[in-house]
Amino acid sequence: MQSEMILVLDFGGQYNQLIARRVRELNVYCEVHPYNMPIEKIREMNPKGIIFTGGPSNVCDDDAPRCDKEIFELGIPVLGICYGAQLMNYLLGGKVATAPVREYGHTEVDVDNGTVLFKHVSSKTVCWMSHTVYIAEAAPGFTVTATTKVCPVAAAQNVEKGLYCVQFHPEVSHTVEGNKMLENFLKRVCKCQCDWKMDSFVETSIREIREKVGNGKVLCALSGGVDSSVAAVLLSKAVGKQLTCVFVDHGLLRKHEGDEVEAVFGPEGPYDLNFVRVNAQERFYSKLAGVEEPEKKRKIIGEEFIRVFEEEAKKIGAVDFLVQGTIYPDVIESGLGKSAVIKSHHNVGGLPDCVDFKEIIEPLRLLFKDEVRKAGLELGIPENLVFRQPFPGPGLAIRIIGEVTAEKVRLVQDADAIFRQEMAKAGLDRNANQYFAALTNMRSVGCMGDERTYDYACVIRAVTTTDFMTAEFAELPWSLIGRVSSRIVNEVKGINRVLYDCTGKPPATIELE
Ligand code: XMP
Repeated sequence: MQSEMILVLDFGGQYNQLIARRVRELNVYCEVHPYNMPIEKIREMNPKGIIFTGGPSNVCDDDAPRCDKEIFELGIPVLGICYGAQLMNYLLGGKVATAPVREYGHTEVDVDNGTVLFKHVSSKTVCWMSHTVYIAEAAPGFTVTATTKVCPVAAAQNVEKGLYCVQFHPEVSHTVEGNKMLENFLKRVCKCQCDWKMDSFVETSIREIREKVGNGKVLCALSGGVDSSVAAVLLSKAVGKQLTCVFVDHGLLRKHEGDEVEAVFGPEGPYDLNFVRVNAQERFYSKLAGVEEPEKKRKIIGEEFIRVFEEEAKKIGAVDFLVQGTIYPDVIESGLGKSAVIKSHHNVGGLPDCVDFKEIIEPLRLLFKDEVRKAGLELGIPENLVFRQPFPGPGLAIRIIGEVTAEKVRLVQDADAIFRQEMAKAGLDRNANQYFAALTNMRSVGCMGDERTYDYACVIRAVTTTDFMTAEFAELPWSLIGRVSSRIVNEVKGINRVLYDCTGKPPATIELE
């Protein structure tokens, strides 16, 4: 259990995760829970402070999400943000009404920087506003601490009760001094020590896993991706050889990737675990023969993966624990009943059903992606693995349009390796969030030397994105594209044309299938 924590109660705002991120960046452990979390649970959790998020509802509507008023009597400081601010005032007897003008975007706010929340904040500061309803009158006992041209109550406080509210969003970067405000809340109001760090997370996790697992046997499906790699190393540090990692090489990985994973996790690598590599390339290729439809390919790969894993698990026998690389965004999304970040077909599902085990261990379920990476570095995992770009479960099969064959896999692997090398050489490999080569199903005429060729066209794609739900195509330098193109056509026999994909998402998707 963490020594000090902040509880974020979610009212459906689009920035709920961002609030948690900001708090953690200030080195305070933080969890997001639904707004209607029972009061006894909150008491049990004993947070140092509570933050109400924004939300899309109108607090005056009958069906608007509301928390129990008792929350203000727990003696725990509360910061209400946007909808959370309106709710706090509404529940405590203030007036919330439709604003005469909707405030949206960068807004100048006059703050009283003699107050605790705005200490060291400029008296005129730019904040991010997004509201149609506003606090017309603060609740009794509150004093107004900030105003805008439109808002008579842009912020208010009841110091005695430890209640603070802001109409704007301190968590978004457009609120120039938002971090200072959050820091003031954490340090000056909640009296947090701000000492939550990744090394303490790693240490605590290892201890907790050890206690939980005892002498038990643990099984982990290792893909070589960031999440499963970090989870596996954490487990191996905790229980060593009691852990078996099964790595299924489906023949659809990037060039040399299978060997790279084996070099890290296999017997020659630094970790003391049981590593099983299953070379199932031929199995997957034969199942995929003649199949052109993208979703069908995905399904076949997902099912075959489960079959292979199942066979291996049977050889190992009954295990006590199965490791899953679930991370915090998945937990928040599913816990709050919203649509998942990643479409269901993106996950190789069904694993738990096919293995005989007693309990699931999810050692990363409290971490955001970049925190998983930090934990990975803390655990000494090589940087190239820790900063690996996302790679889809069905692998190169969805980067080969139409039927997958061993020969096409080779073409796309070689082209992709060249692209990645050139991106790294140009120092751009961390600028694009995902980049790769794909193979079209189109062949065209070319000339090499004096000979006519009739070969495949390959696509190179690079995107920038934060959430992978939307993306922009990366504007790579033409000189780089030219170099990649000429190297691919010269070095990869079977490709005679290179195209750059300059489509965003939407309307396209990141992968080609
Ligand atoms: P799309 O192509 O939907 O991709 O824009 C968004 C992100 O998801 C990854 N992706 C997948 N990951 N199984 C996965 O594990 C899949 O079937 C799959 N399809 C797409 C893609 O690489 C990108 O990061």
